[in-house]
Formats: sequence, C-alpha cells, structure tokens
Amino acid sequence: MKRYLAIFGLALLGVVGTAQAQNCTISLEGNDRMQFDKKSVSVSASCPTITVELKHTGSLPVAAMGHNVVITETGDANDVAQAGIKAGAPNYLPGGDARVIAATDMIGGGQSTSITFPGNKLTAGGDYTFFCSFPGHSGIMRGTVEVTN
Ligand code: CO
Repeated sequence: MKRYLAIFGLALLGVVGTAQAQNCTISLEGNDRMQFDKKSVSVSASCPTITVELKHTGSLPVAAMGHNVVITETGDANDVAQAGIKAGAPNYLPGGDARVIAATDMIGGGQSTSITFPGNKLTAGGDYTFFCSFPGHSGIMRGTVEVTN
C-alpha cells in the first residue's frame, strides 16, 4: 500500500509540476568573446516577479567588454540599442525610456548582477528580445525572450 501511495504521490507531483511550470528566472552568462550562452530564454508572464541574472564569465574590464541584459519588444531593440550608444558610458542605456522593459547594470569580467521586474510588464505570446547595449555588442549579443502564461 505504501508503495502505491508513493507512486501515486509521484504521479500527482508530476501533473502539478507540469501544470505550474512557471519560469520566473532568466539566467544568462556573457563571456570575453562577446557572446551570451543562450540564444533564447523562456519566462512566464504570470510570475509576480521575474528575476534576470547575469554572470560575466570572462576577465576583461567593463570598459572593454561590458555586458548587460536589456529586454524590449523586438521592434524596439535596434532603436533602444542606438539610443544607448548615444547615452554613453557607463550604462549605455537611455534614461527613463519606456521601451526598456528591464535592464541590468553593465558589468565586467568576474562580476555578477541581477534585477527583478513585475511579470505583468510582459504579455504571453508577445515578441520580445534581450540584448547587450554595450557599443557594438547588440548585433551579436541578442536573443529571443519567449513569454508563456
Ligand atoms: Co556586451
């Protein structure tokens, strides 16, 4: 009987786990070769709070190989990246720009940073992009943010 209960319990956990497969963390690494470790990330708009974690696994200083994670609607990504270059160091981000849904600090090799933002700033099924706004990086350092319920 115990065994059946254990199996039933595991099955139930599996079902619940699938139904609530809510992903509330976006975790990315950047390196000295101007690359993120992922081309796409997935996150749930129903999360009360979404965490964006960035780790720079390289060793170059922020002024030479700075990385951040900026999330915008895909249609805004190029314009925001251009505005970021105009805004200049150290953050390379336009201040108070509503097109910026979330953005971490700019960091250098060996550093880590994270931020949180409300999940309801994203819409399930929407078209979002993450990128690094350091000058010259956004063309390569970018990927898709898939948003589920
Ligand atoms: Co970068």
